[in-house]
Amino acid sequence: MANIILVGAQWGDEGKGKIIDVLTEQVDVVVRTQGGNNAGHTVFVGSQKYVLHLVPSGILRPRKTCVIANGVVIDPISLVEELDGLERLRVKVRGHFHISETAHLVMPYHRLLDEQREIAKGKHRIGTTKRGIGPAYGDKAARVGIRMLDLLDPERFQAILARRIKENNGFLRALGAPALSLRKVLDAYRTAGERLRPFVTNTVLLLHQAARQGKNILFEGAQGTFLDLDHGTYPFVTSSNTTAGGACTGSGIPPNRIDRVVGVVKAYTTRVGEGPLPTENTHIADLLHRMGREFGATTGRPRRCGWFDTVATRHAAMVNGIDDLAVTNLDGLDTVPVIQVAVAYRIHGRRCASMPSDTQLLAQSEPVYEEFPGWMTPTHQARRWRDLPPKARAYLRAIAKLTGAPLSIVSVGPSRDQTIFL
Ligand code: GDP
Ligand code: IMO
Ligand code: MG
Repeated sequence: MANIILVGAQWGDEGKGKIIDVLTEQVDVVVRTQGGNNAGHTVFVGSQKYVLHLVPSGILRPRKTCVIANGVVIDPISLVEELDGLERLRVKVRGHFHISETAHLVMPYHRLLDEQREIAKGKHRIGTTKRGIGPAYGDKAARVGIRMLDLLDPERFQAILARRIKENNGFLRALGAPALSLRKVLDAYRTAGERLRPFVTNTVLLLHQAARQGKNILFEGAQGTFLDLDHGTYPFVTSSNTTAGGACTGSGIPPNRIDRVVGVVKAYTTRVGEGPLPTENTHIADLLHRMGREFGATTGRPRRCGWFDTVATRHAAMVNGIDDLAVTNLDGLDTVPVIQVAVAYRIHGRRCASMPSDTQLLAQSEPVYEEFPGWMTPTHQARRWRDLPPKARAYLRAIAKLTGAPLSIVSVGPSRDQTIFL
């Protein structure tokens, strides 16, 4: 093992939580470096289901150090609720959980602005999770954000908050939304701040100290490559860098300390929210939804579904520097007689092997498919590569080859043991 960045190589919800949980056994530290509680990472421990939003998935294994690093935007109220929920389920948090003092806060006006701007956009909406992520990162970039260390200094917090509420109440009124009460926000955030205080520290120093002691760090990516602010299907993206580089700026661990980048993909494609999804297919969506699969872990929205898209995953392999691939949800294709895989796009009559940067062109791209025969056999009991049906192995080999990265993990069910290591 070594220091590993794990990224989603599609549009999010690739099954990162499950793969993080499996890999955590072999590391010492798990770090979230970007995004916020827009993420929903599902992990099963036995029959108990956990959905983690801000807390690193490593929390479910005792003695693993878990860190929310500087690049994450934290809604303190939501984080307290998540910690309380974990403690109710007897997950021990104290002693192995740390929060960066320089992480920015998601404030109530961010959530309200996110919601109001989506309403105002009408049919041009992004389909955000309405968790205030875009406005919070916007304030960070505009240098008017509030950080964890501000929250923990009551006088400083009150002074900054008074200025920020005054300005944001103006924006809210302009959008027809009610104004916020300074007193109410102050009380709620101070209470949450006191609950979080014991966990807040300088996580840059903490992580470097761990690295110097030879500990292995796993960087838990949130969202996915095509939701990246720079490399995704802008403007239908989230507001952080979800690609591998974001793990470095979001933690203070430099690129030359990274040993491996693992890309997680589903054996098909899903997306939640608006924006282009070239291989979208309603038959596969119906099939998966009928099985009770592919409903959002954060918002419960049904996910849009489509075929595996190697034009997209090749691009993801390139921008993330993916060393190896973890393919999840192979079992989702167990009953599909003929499986399609996009190998190129046709754009205005011309065949194109790479992804266009222009989101409007991507929306007009027609996938060029290669067909693979389905294996029509349950795979959820496979535990070794050779247990998989030959047609499933051929499919996996093909998507890895077309993506340009070797396979390292295949997942055939949500639980820990339903995992094949190659
Ligand atoms: P994340 O955001 O990338 O962590 O993914 P989500 O947790 O939002 O969504 C992935 C879903 O797939 C969750 O419900 C997981 O429990 C589930 N899952 C992950 N791997 C597998 C698998 O191999 N098979 C099945 N059936 N479900 C899986
Ligand atoms: P995990 O970590 C899937 C999507 C939203 C919307 C867009 C912008 O579970 O893979 P935002 O609220 O971030 O401003 O929404 O990004 N989105 C996700 N889709 N998985 C996620 O996280 C997502 N986080 C945000 O649906 O389209
Ligand atoms: Mg998710």
